[in-house]
Amino acid sequence: MIETARHAAQLGGDVVARYYREGVEMRGKQSYNLVSDADIDAERAVVQAIREAYPDHAILAEEEHHDSAESEHLWVVDPLDGTNNFAHHIPHFAVSIAYYHQGVAQCGAVYNPIREDWYTAVRGEGAQHNGQPIHVSDCTDLGQVLVGLGFYYDRGDGMLATLAAAADFFRCNIHGVRRFGTASLDLAQVACGMFGAFFEFELKPWDFGAGRLLVEEAGGRITTCTGEEVPLKSTSMLASNGHLHAQSLAITSKHFKS
Ligand code: IPD
Ligand code: CA
Ligand code: CA
Repeated sequence: MIETARHAAQLGGDVVARYYREGVEMRGKQSYNLVSDADIDAERAVVQAIREAYPDHAILAEEEHHDSAESEHLWVVDPLDGTNNFAHHIPHFAVSIAYYHQGVAQCGAVYNPIREDWYTAVRGEGAQHNGQPIHVSDCTDLGQVLVGLGFYYDRGDGMLATLAAAADFFRCNIHGVRRFGTASLDLAQVACGMFGAFFEFELKPWDFGAGRLLVEEAGGRITTCTGEEVPLKSTSMLASNGHLHAQSLAITSKHFKS
């Protein structure tokens, strides 16, 4: 299945990279929530590859394929995570694909087609970056790490709560916050130790479907921003190297409002 995930991500990534080079018109879901033919066509290429390998499996993808998250065999797909970066020609976006069996992530691939960067994980077998094993950082001090964060498309209370949480992280003397705009890659950056922690108050299943397994298989910890197990639906998310989870959770749970 990881080979199918990789194959599908390669095909989707080829589509995204072609549009990135040639240019494509961006349309607004809202003025700042963009979509394009790159998202749509990449999703179709990914879905075709999965369907060729597993015709009976369900697919939950961002744009056009919305099977139930409770399906026994489920592929969770974001054909273009980081659309805003793509639109502004920042080469930091990814195709994210994961396979879930009975609600549990079994394998996943996150692929940046511009940098030809691969993050992959298989349950019980660890996580890899371009074929090399990766591990979360072993830092036990928030004062020694970068913290990744993200904002959903909310411009109201959710945004202000995120900024307030970031301010509290700064009060712990973290080295800084980073908002790179691609949740799947943010989670990959926790998995390979670049971020001590990452949080976002609203993510969709396709944003974290593969990334959560990268973090878990790299030795990190994932919960909601209030400490519960992460459901396969719209949710808040706190990812960390484990050592920094309790301290980070104290901040995110203080600011998160459902
Ligand atoms: C978005 C990105 C972003 C995160 C948003 C997501 P999209 O996905 O992952 O980093 O902050 O919450 O919606 O719209 O680019 O696929
Ligand atoms: Ca996304
Ligand atoms: Ca997307």
